[in-house]
Amino acid sequence: MKTLSNQDVVNQLRWRYATKKFDPQKKISKDDWAAIEEALILSPSSYGLQPWKFIVVQSAELRKQLTPLSWKQTQVEDCSHYVVFANKIGLDEKYITDFIDLNAKTRGVSPEKLEGYKKMMMGNLLGGDRKSQLSDWAARQCYIALGNLMTTVAVMGIDACPMEGIEPAGYDKVLGLEGTGYQTCVACAVGYRSADDAYARLAKVRFANEKVIINK
Ligand SMILES: Cc1cc2nc3c(=O)[nH]c(=O)nc-3n(C[C@H](O)[C@H](O)[C@H](O)COP(=O)(O)O)c2cc1C
Repeated sequence: MKTLSNQDVVNQLRWRYATKKFDPQKKISKDDWAAIEEALILSPSSYGLQPWKFIVVQSAELRKQLTPLSWKQTQVEDCSHYVVFANKIGLDEKYITDFIDLNAKTRGVSPEKLEGYKKMMMGNLLGGDRKSQLSDWAARQCYIALGNLMTTVAVMGIDACPMEGIEPAGYDKVLGLEGTGYQTCVACAVGYRSADDAYARLAKVRFANEKVIINK
């Protein structure tokens, strides 16, 4: 199924940029935001395990507290929706079992049928070297969701700024994440560009095709 022309896709990806200045008056509509949330939830992850929470910070007071923990970047308070991606810290058998149960229920099969799948996840994630790197693994999954969010909103004609310039430990305190088993990984401001954001007019700086695409 093809819904957008190749040119439309490229045009939207050229149109998007890391928005430095949002128009604080312009808010994303309820319907558009519902589609964006759906896109976040539909993000793929390794084994499908979704080791994340997407915290949509709507409280003006909380956003105010996050600004000094974000290199004072104005996007935090001026954007329409501010999403903090929190990755799961570690994994245990219960998490994997609960996921298998959900999978079985959703697809109408017995959990026993998924025993091989479960064993593979247990062995690969909890049995070997990966065990000590599970938070990094979960953070990588969050970055996939971040990319998915950015592309989705670009296609919708909505602006975004990925935000790594944040202090994760400070965010955890402000957002009450401490002790929850999740930690701040990265964030993304979403909304509409201010008409006077000069960054919107800058040329894209990208390596040439032949420098990064290697055909073998
Ligand atoms: C993971 C990630 C974190 C980023 N963090 C910030 C940030 O904290 N503040 C900011 O203004 N831009 C941030 N950027 C934007 C990049 O600088 C920008 O994407 C890059 O220069 C390419 O420009 P473009 O996105 O406008 O095409 C981040 C980008 C990524 C992918």
